[in-house]
Amino acid sequence: ADLSGSNTLGLPGRAELLLRVTDEDSLAQALAFAAGQGLAVTILGGGSNVVLAGDVPGLVLQMALSGVRVLQSPDDFGPGEVLVEAAAGENWHAFTQRTLVMGLGGLENLSLIPGTVGAAPVQNIGAYGVELADVMHALTAYDRVTRQYVDIAAADCAFGYRESRFKSAEPGRHVIVRVRFRLSRQPALRIGYGDIRQALAAAGADTAPTAQDVATAVIAIRRSKLPDPAELGNAGSFFKNPVVPVEQADELRLRFPGVVSYPQPGGLTAKLAAGWLIEQAGWKGCRLGAVGVHDRQALVLVHHGGGSGAELLALADAVRQSVRERFGVLLEQEPVILGGVR
Ligand code: EPU
Repeated sequence: ADLSGSNTLGLPGRAELLLRVTDEDSLAQALAFAAGQGLAVTILGGGSNVVLAGDVPGLVLQMALSGVRVLQSPDDFGPGEVLVEAAAGENWHAFTQRTLVMGLGGLENLSLIPGTVGAAPVQNIGAYGVELADVMHALTAYDRVTRQYVDIAAADCAFGYRESRFKSAEPGRHVIVRVRFRLSRQPALRIGYGDIRQALAAAGADTAPTAQDVATAVIAIRRSKLPDPAELGNAGSFFKNPVVPVEQADELRLRFPGVVSYPQPGGLTAKLAAGWLIEQAGWKGCRLGAVGVHDRQALVLVHHGGGSGAELLALADAVRQSVRERFGVLLEQEPVILGGVR
């Protein structure tokens, strides 16, 4: 089955076997079948955080479970707090907007992030000062080791910056089928991020913004910087913002006074804006054949069409190497590589 339409970079590649999963029973059956046949299993959500490097052997499960519901609030929830559950195949952005229409805040800063609900915890999606970990309550997943469905609390997901146990410690073990969020009728809005304050002011909504106003601001900011995958293939930020010892950040600032860095909690490390490093290394807006570096946000690699995963990964290597040579900083790739020969 052709996967070129199932990854937002629009890279070519085929799945040996592809199954669209629409209910939890058939997921368990498909996984038992694959285990019996010794087939590799790859879980695909919206394909917005993957680089398809070639054909994918074994069974690809396209998660299409749907449904959103309000559940009974647990006893420890405060007044106005509501537990909402969404199935893994729900489109992330559509879900965030639906909760806002329901009068519930919490997901507004995470508007317009491509992908599905089930993929969101894997890389702990984050934007404008909020991470999924801040709003997630728990999730339900199929555990391929114990072969049963398990509930996992947010505190047990080992969330970090674009990181979770599902991505690093135990990749492939759990297949997320439902995610539950702690939302609120009186949300504490997070509007400290500079771009958000500016966008709210521009919209005349800076005095008493609502969660909906914040979502509108986030959507405007993202549209102004980030390419729409429907128009230009991309997987969002291609590298993580590197976290380095403060000494290294200070030393960089002496040599490059414009360097963008954010002190991290604890005071020992600083997070550098990888987009700044890549732009300064001269890559912003560059095009190498079918692939390139986005002209409005250097952290985003783009596929103009007709290229391959190998070309994109070669560009990523060249970017990584020049940033290392110029700044002595190692960039870590964010999206997961699927298929191909590695
Ligand atoms: N910058 C440049 N040149 C560029 C891009 C950025 O100089 O081409 C500098 C600017 O100074 C800018 C700063 O970097 O002020 C930060 O840029 P931006 O606000 O665009 O955020 P980012 O650090 O590049 C991160 C996330 C995004 C998220 C935004 C907003 C990562 C890897 N990326 O990007 O997440 O939307 O912050 O919170 O942490 C994603 O993960 O796919 C993603 C888009």
